[in-house]
Order: sequence, then structure tokens, then C-alpha cells
Amino acid sequence: MAIRADRLSHAETPRPIGRPLIRFDRVTSTMDVATTLADLGSPEGTVIQADLQTAGRGRAGRVWESEAGSALMLSIILRPSDTPIGPGALSLLAGLAVARTAEVLSSRPSTIKWPNDVLLDGLKVSGILVHSRATPPCSCRQFVLGIGVNVRETPESHAARAISLSEAAGVTVATADVLNRLIAELDTVYVAFRRGDIARELTELDARLAFRDQQVSVVDGGRTTSGTVSGIDHTCALLLRLPDGTLRPIISGELTRGPTPVEP
Ligand code: BTN
Repeated sequence: MAIRADRLSHAETPRPIGRPLIRFDRVTSTMDVATTLADLGSPEGTVIQADLQTAGRGRAGRVWESEAGSALMLSIILRPSDTPIGPGALSLLAGLAVARTAEVLSSRPSTIKWPNDVLLDGLKVSGILVHSRATPPCSCRQFVLGIGVNVRETPESHAARAISLSEAAGVTVATADVLNRLIAELDTVYVAFRRGDIARELTELDARLAFRDQQVSVVDGGRTTSGTVSGIDHTCALLLRLPDGTLRPIISGELTRGPTPVEP
């Protein structure tokens, strides 16, 4: 029997991400465009992609810089109302989708620096930014998930800490290949998220965790927690082993290596 798309509930939609996918040559930030379109009622899964951002944003008020066409930059509208899993898992699951994509296209092992960076050979290849807010009159939350992947070059200012897929692979990687693979991987993790079963993803995230058994510091607002990276729990919180031997779940914050925080 043919399945009609209009009869599928969100939970049953087989491939939610990238329908529609709207491309721009130049925007301020794909986050701005996606937020405006989300407020105008664009469907869940809408992807906004741009070749150039004039005001690209990173986490913690940082700037995301990229030469035209050298990075994959996109934002996705999500409204995950029908899942028992907390939304905190969303950005880590997106990181997993990016890590799988980066590993396949570069043939290099990829790790995840909790909560939002994807690394190749210990250098940042991708960053993820999540904005969320309640959407009245219903109480459902609307998320705009922003992903930037260095595909051809790394911004000069980040050369010591960043890498591109092409640099890691040793050949030029096509942005279209990154986009196609990433959307397929995002589909997979998002379907698992909405189904309410991310056990397999959690195991893989735990295995890909960067700095395991190493000392790190996590700054959240004015509070710093230092400890040894021990894993992630079922809510996607980072588990830090504190100097007194206890395990502390960390829900949010910016992580840096070492016992005292440095500028990431
Ligand atoms: C970070 O590493 O701090 C997060 C970077 C997120 C960058 C992406 S690029 C696409 C989207 N639009 C933005 O302005 N930021 C995100």
C-alpha cells in the first residue's frame, strides 16, 4: 500500500530533515533566517543553508567566521513535541551526526568535545549552536539548530585549533557531499530521538567522547567545575569525576582542558 505523506504523524515521518532545504548565497546568519521562517510557520525539518554569513554566530557570544564557500553553514528548524527525551540531548545527537559524517568523508577518527564541538585529530572541524524558545499559544518548544562545518579551509585566526574536512582527508571534499551525508545522519539520530530510544546513540557518544580520563574545567555562568572526564549519562550530561572521587553530572557549560579554565 502506498504511504501518503499527509497521513504520517511526525513520529512516523521517515525522513524529517531537509524538507524543504532553502539555499542562500549570503545572509547575516542562517540562525536569523531560520528563526524568522520558524516564526512564520515553516515546517519542522526546514534547513536554511548559506555560502556566506556576514554575521555568523558561535556559542557564548563568539563569532563564527568563514570565507565564502569554504564551510557548510546551516540551521534547522525543529519542534520535538512528541518525545520523552529531554531537549538537552538534541545538540549532542547533532554532534554525533556531524562526527559520523566527518569520519566517513575524511577517513579520520572523529571525537566529540562535549557538548557541541566535533574534532578530527583533536582539532575542531565543526561547531553547533542551539537556540530554543517556547512557541505560544501552545507550550511546545521550537529549536533552531545551527551547524558549521569547515569543509575547505579553516579560518586563519583559528588555524592552530581548527581543521577542515579537506585538510584532514588530504583531498578536496565537496560541500554537497557533506550536506547530503549530514542530512542523512541527522535524519537517523532525529528519528531515534523522537522515537524515544537513543540507547545506541548514547553508547556511541560515550565512545566518541574527547578528553576521556583527562582533566578538564567546565564553566557555566560564574561557576567552574574541574574534574576528570568519565563519560556521559542517559540525559547526555557530562560525568566529571571530582577530586573527592564523586561523579558529578554537568548539564551545560563551556569545557576546556586542564584544571583551570582558559579561553576556548
Ligand atoms: C560554535 O562553535 O561556537 C558554534 C558555531 C555555530 C556556527 C553555525 S554556522 C551556521 C549557523 N549560523 C550561525 O550564525 N551559527 C551557526
